[in-house]
Amino acid sequence: MYILGIETSCDETAASVVKDGQTILSNVVVSQIDIFKEYGGVIPEVAARSHLEAILPVIHEAIRQAEKTDPEFYARNHTEKEKECTLSLTGIDTIAVTHTPGLLGSLLIGTLTARTLAILHHKPLYPVHHLKSHIYANWLESKQPENQSIDFPLLALVVSGGHTQIIRMLAHNQFEIIGTTRDDAVGECFDKVAKILGLPYPGGPSISKAAKNGNPKKYRFPHPKLSSPNRGETKYSSLDFSFSGLKTAVLREVQKAAGKPISFPSHELKNLLSEQQIADFAASFEETATDILIENLQKALTLYPDTKSICLAGGVSANELLRSKSKCSFERVDTEIAKGNFQGRDNLPFEKLPLAIPVFFPSKSLSGDNAAMVAAAAYYEIQSGVQPTDPYHVSLSPRSPITAS
Ligand code: KG4
Ligand code: ZN
Repeated sequence: MYILGIETSCDETAASVVKDGQTILSNVVVSQIDIFKEYGGVIPEVAARSHLEAILPVIHEAIRQAEKTDPEFYARNHTEKEKECTLSLTGIDTIAVTHTPGLLGSLLIGTLTARTLAILHHKPLYPVHHLKSHIYANWLESKQPENQSIDFPLLALVVSGGHTQIIRMLAHNQFEIIGTTRDDAVGECFDKVAKILGLPYPGGPSISKAAKNGNPKKYRFPHPKLSSPNRGETKYSSLDFSFSGLKTAVLREVQKAAGKPISFPSHELKNLLSEQQIADFAASFEETATDILIENLQKALTLYPDTKSICLAGGVSANELLRSKSKCSFERVDTEIAKGNFQGRDNLPFEKLPLAIPVFFPSKSLSGDNAAMVAAAAYYEIQSGVQPTDPYHVSLSPRSPITAS
């Protein structure tokens, strides 16, 4: 089955052709990062306009590359009738598109394009939840640990610019949110701390780069102490996260180091810090943020001891330290980073874990927003018996929780 995936939820315009939910024939991503570097963040109106310009060329390119990669797809897609056409979708069985959550104007461009193509080319249409797609990036061809399959029940740590959640899956297309952030997402926190330190957008990769020369133990930042939910209170979970306090703690410490209580946002702060201080702040922040994520996963494992796999998902899952700590904590893999930064910390008794649970994460190019993961998620919806959506009635929402379709 050949699925055309389309993704425009934030600042990446992406299209991909995926065969049978696993094999990527093409994965084209046009990023708007260069536009937004200048502003230090995404401007929704500008993002929507950029999607509008890029979407059709990106889809064309995805189809062209897929034809080049797979002779079977080429043969299916090039019937006599279609040879004249500029865009042939004859070989595509299904179209999948992100419809929630995300920036409304951005989602609109992707969904309108997908709906139009579905109507014109008589293809079934699957609107897909963005976080579901991030989780399903783990089923695409890059599998770690080698030769191991992802077994259920699993815990997915979804960490992106807009979300931080632990999601339990008992089977394909079944999702239960067991922990979520009560304020900022961890990716948002990376981006804001980067801004405080004068590092470029997006903050995640720039923090990691700066942290390489820093001392992760130089500054101690507090871990959130969230009030436990009362009995029967469903709104909060003991597995919830909070990242707004960490961002403020970094700001206060930076102000102290700078010797001036300049408030954020300010470009002045970074001018009062040495390169070494910036590196130390980046490393100490990265250490704390990743520890908080691991600690909650650890808690989740004690609450759900039947867990067979752990999947990291979303843009922050590209973070090397998070990957390395997860491997070390749950698979008990010794890595250089883990040895240096992590093992033996007295507040993280991971060595007491009775089980070695395999940890999966997508390859770096599949951690951030892309359309191959959208096609993969739709494939597993189809396998679960989900019916396509009427292309004239696709709902859009900037926010909505992940649910089974
Ligand atoms: O999933 P994603 O590409 O878009 C959303 O759905 O939000 O995630 C983007 C987020 C940004 O906050 C970015 O700073 C963060 O992922 N990110 C990272 C890394 N690469 C991207 N955070 C930490 N370390 C990284 N290497
Ligand atoms: Zn995303």
